[in-house]
Amino acid sequence: MTFKVEPVRGFRDILPPESELMRIITKKFVDVVRSYGYSEVIPPTVELFELFATKSGPEISRSMYVFRDKAGREVCLRPELTASVVRMYIRSMLAEPKPVKVFYVGNAFRYEEPQLGRYREFYQMGVELIGDSSLYSDLELFLILRDYYKSLGLSEYSIKINDVGILRTLFTLWGVGEEVQDLILHYMDKKLYDEAVKILRGYSSADLKLFDEVTKVRTENPEELLETTKTLGMPEEAISRIKKLYEITSLMKALNVGNVIIDLSFARGLAYYTGLIFEVIVPNLNVSIGGGGRYDNLVELYGGPPTPSTGFALGVERTYLALKNLGLTDKLSSFDKVMLISLIDDYVYVDIIASTLRNAGYATSVRFTSKGKLGDVLGLASKKGYKYVVLIGEKELKSSKVTVKNLITKWQGELDVSELSRLGEH
Ligand code: HAM
Repeated sequence: MTFKVEPVRGFRDILPPESELMRIITKKFVDVVRSYGYSEVIPPTVELFELFATKSGPEISRSMYVFRDKAGREVCLRPELTASVVRMYIRSMLAEPKPVKVFYVGNAFRYEEPQLGRYREFYQMGVELIGDSSLYSDLELFLILRDYYKSLGLSEYSIKINDVGILRTLFTLWGVGEEVQDLILHYMDKKLYDEAVKILRGYSSADLKLFDEVTKVRTENPEELLETTKTLGMPEEAISRIKKLYEITSLMKALNVGNVIIDLSFARGLAYYTGLIFEVIVPNLNVSIGGGGRYDNLVELYGGPPTPSTGFALGVERTYLALKNLGLTDKLSSFDKVMLISLIDDYVYVDIIASTLRNAGYATSVRFTSKGKLGDVLGLASKKGYKYVVLIGEKELKSSKVTVKNLITKWQGELDVSELSRLGEH
């Protein structure tokens, strides 16, 4: 019998070097969020479908993997992790002092049309900041992004930003119910502006001129946001949201958080957002590498107390693609690779040398060979991207030395075993 070796459509086998770079990308994220005092949570992969049914938005609801388990429960593979974290918060973290700051790294599933950077299983790394409505809590998310992208060497990113509450305020004023609002915002997210207008035409109180003028506002200059919206005749609530958007984008600029693009027509696929929303975009990739926003009603919707919250998630594969497209992946590898070649079968001695190298931070792989085959093994080491070859033979064993070759600079010499941790100087 011959098996089909391809994975299921939309799923991927991830091999080195991509798998290794994805690990580094995730590790750096964990280092940064920990340095901001966030603690890890690990939500389950399978949840009851009802958790995502209401507030995921039409797009994600349609693309969910839903099935019945053997006991007949309607369950799904999580399409994202925020809803699970909120459920966990209500179940186990309500008594904790606020804000609760958590992070996660995990896979998510969406039955979407596969394309570059869009898969049916993908990895997200995210943070949720639960129980804080302050401007600083939103700002902190951007500071995390700034520091994280700096740690990756990524400077060419932009943050597209809006407050979905501006349009929601107008819609509510015009008598548009919440579910219809979600649908209009879904169309806007899909850039189907005419569909959005078509729905609004059904509401006699809807001011289509104002809708048109508001959704045309796009600027990289916070001052210009204030100028252009001043004369639009917006309701008080929308004006105060614009002022907050001005404040936060001015602070982002002052604190060197990427390139900020304010776009009042920008909407996001998920329906739980109530305020600030944002996406991270990079040149040469037409999908966002991260996204998030404020969801002040979700905890309450799931039966908890009113709890203003905010957060974001970044796509691990898309972050990798962004770095690859910009030629930044080479700089990411965290350790130099060493091939330790032994011409003698003294496993104890070889382990002493290998452990010394590993403790000094070198990824050390051991090979035993004979003098006659040494040339082949050296060839393999340079082909496979090893930086150093460390050689042990009878002569080296007797003198407590090793022979070292730097395959990049071509330096070669003998080092005392006690000097091995200083390999990097050669
Ligand atoms: P999202 O924008 O749906 O937001 O997903 C966040 C990120 O996950 C995207 O920016 C993208 O990098 C990655 N992503 C999404 N779908 C795919 C896919 N099919 N293939 C590869 N990567 C993908 C959320 O999921 C929210 N939970 C974010 C959030 C957290 N909002 C508040 N807190």
